[in-house]
Amino acid sequence: MSSSSAEKLVRLSKAGEELVRGAEHVRKSDSSLVTEIDVLSEKLLIEGLSALLPDSKFLAEEGHGTHDGDLHNLWIIDPIDGTTNFIHGIAAWCISIALYVEGRPVLGVVYDVPHATAYSACEGVEGMSVEGQSAEVSTTEQLSDALLATGFPISAIPQLDDYLRILGSLMTRTHGIRRIGAAALDLAWVACGKFDGFFEYNLKPWDVAAGAYLVHKAGGKVTTFSGGDDFLFARQILASNGRRLHVELLEAMR
Ligand code: IPD
Ligand code: CA
Ligand code: CA
Repeated sequence: MSSSSAEKLVRLSKAGEELVRGAEHVRKSDSSLVTEIDVLSEKLLIEGLSALLPDSKFLAEEGHGTHDGDLHNLWIIDPIDGTTNFIHGIAAWCISIALYVEGRPVLGVVYDVPHATAYSACEGVEGMSVEGQSAEVSTTEQLSDALLATGFPISAIPQLDDYLRILGSLMTRTHGIRRIGAAALDLAWVACGKFDGFFEYNLKPWDVAAGAYLVHKAGGKVTTFSGGDDFLFARQILASNGRRLHVELLEAMR
């Protein structure tokens, strides 16, 4: 994927801005919310991205995907990440788009619609950028200097006790923990150094694919809670600036 294709993708993502105005919502079977705008955004993204890369496939939250398990020429998209914020008029939501080729990510865009800010990276172009300006992860070394982000689901999770233990341990040893409500944005903010780290249980590939690629390209590290690589499907993700902090965070997750 060339950088001009990445620019086209950012423009396409920006088109989403026109779509998102006061929508009705319903609850899905997993208790999360969806609006007609999530669905419309997904359809338009699939249409536009199919034109950009013919014969590509999709893994998309609202079910219009054609994913057959193969991570090749596969777009992983969240048409609106942060739908609950969107419904409640909180300006923290985004569109998240990643492209995998031959099993690896080669492109990621997180577009913060309310602030018209694109976070993007692609293979062949060094680092990641915020609206075209290069950015990188923070230089924080230790937990006691770190600002972290997290999120939690609105239905019961089997890992609730573990999660509360981790939260209890980290909230008193850091600069604090934020819960923004849009995981893709959390990861984009780790990539550009606003947050030093982010962790969450139970996220899906479309929540994390683009943001994790941004963190990686910005010099950070993304793993499962036990340090493994399979954060895309493992439903647990730990992202950081990749410094000693990552080791401290892994210890806190144990
Ligand atoms: C949600 C957001 C939120 C996270 C939830 C996700 P959605 O995605 O990323 O921050 O805590 O678990 O489901 O439903 O708004 O696309
Ligand atoms: Ca999401
Ligand atoms: Ca979503």
